[in-house]
Amino acid sequence: MKPIIVTGAAGFIGFYVSKQLIESGHEVVGIDNLNDYYDPSLKEARLAQLHTHPNFRFLKQDVSDYDRLFSLTKSIKPTRFIHLAAQAGVRYSKENPRVYATSNLDGFLNVLEVCRHLEVEHLVYSSSSSVYGVDAQLPLVESAAVDKPASFYAATKRANELMAFSYSHLYGLPTSGLRFFTVYGPWGRPDMAPILFTKAMLAGETIKLFGEGRPIRDFTFATDISEAVVRMMEAIPSSGGSAPHQIVNVGNGSPITVVEFVRALENALGVKANVELVGMQSGDMEATLADTTLLHTLTGFRPNTSIETGLSRLASWYREYFK
Ligand SMILES: NC(=O)c1ccc[n+]([C@@H]2O[C@H](COP(=O)([O-])OP(=O)(O)OC[C@H]3O[C@@H](n4cnc5c(N)ncnc54)[C@H](O)[C@@H]3O)[C@@H](O)[C@H]2O)c1
Repeated sequence: MKPIIVTGAAGFIGFYVSKQLIESGHEVVGIDNLNDYYDPSLKEARLAQLHTHPNFRFLKQDVSDYDRLFSLTKSIKPTRFIHLAAQAGVRYSKENPRVYATSNLDGFLNVLEVCRHLEVEHLVYSSSSSVYGVDAQLPLVESAAVDKPASFYAATKRANELMAFSYSHLYGLPTSGLRFFTVYGPWGRPDMAPILFTKAMLAGETIKLFGEGRPIRDFTFATDISEAVVRMMEAIPSSGGSAPHQIVNVGNGSPITVVEFVRALENALGVKANVELVGMQSGDMEATLADTTLLHTLTGFRPNTSIETGLSRLASWYREYFK
């Protein structure tokens, strides 16, 4: 079996995908630039877990440096390439849009070029529910028009889908874009609400609920995401039609309001939240809810972890990790 490349392996989702792959007998080469968008010690701690397994190797590398990316990956000759490295975060894309262009546009083009030249059999890459954008109709289904991104982050993710389509069409490179819906769980990103809220609630601080807590989110547990990614790796799109390319939602399919999320987190942590209801943030979507019919058709799997189970695991991990 050839090693599988996972970019963003030190990141939240990359960690879970790498872990699941190595535990099921695959060899994984993880790539990440270990940037300091959030505390890199969390990335190092995730890597330390992965390094306990002999089937994991790590290369510190920026995907925006094509020459080095190509020379490092050439010797590996991967047949599967899972690209999860990106500048994530809707809100930060207002502050620093250029870093999104470098990592998500230049970096993505480099990954396409590497996969094309190395004749990779399947490139699976992360897109986002944020591509559904302004005026989206629920449930969010892959065939909907997605040409009104509400943030520059979402615009780069939609651009990735179009870039991938062009490479699939031009060079026959099989590509699958996965639109992840608000991922949460242990080892989660400190810039996202589940970890931000957990930290503030345990410290007795007030949490701000944008949109007065009314926005609806399809929170999806991290191991459900990794299960979907690993299954999708073998769901290679066929060359029939105009391009071997597909886009697939990966979401829980049972959304809740942010207020309901906070109530469930209170139960998991055993503390009461002090909340301040504030207005909507620009760039955020009002509501997300994934239609997961296509994911189920392709893989036989649908995310199924309940919010109670997921938050109880998050709470235990948080207390242990930050004790
Ligand atoms: N977490 C979510 O809820 C969510 C939802 C939708 C989509 N996504 C997408 O899933 C992917 C993974 O997200 P995550 O939540 O694990 O984020 P993350 O920030 O934890 O992981 C991304 C990793 O990529 C690395 N990285 C960033 N730029 C890089 C570059 N130029 N070269 C090499 N490495 C680089 C970072 O160091 C980080 O470790 C991203 O593409 C993100 O946009 C995440």
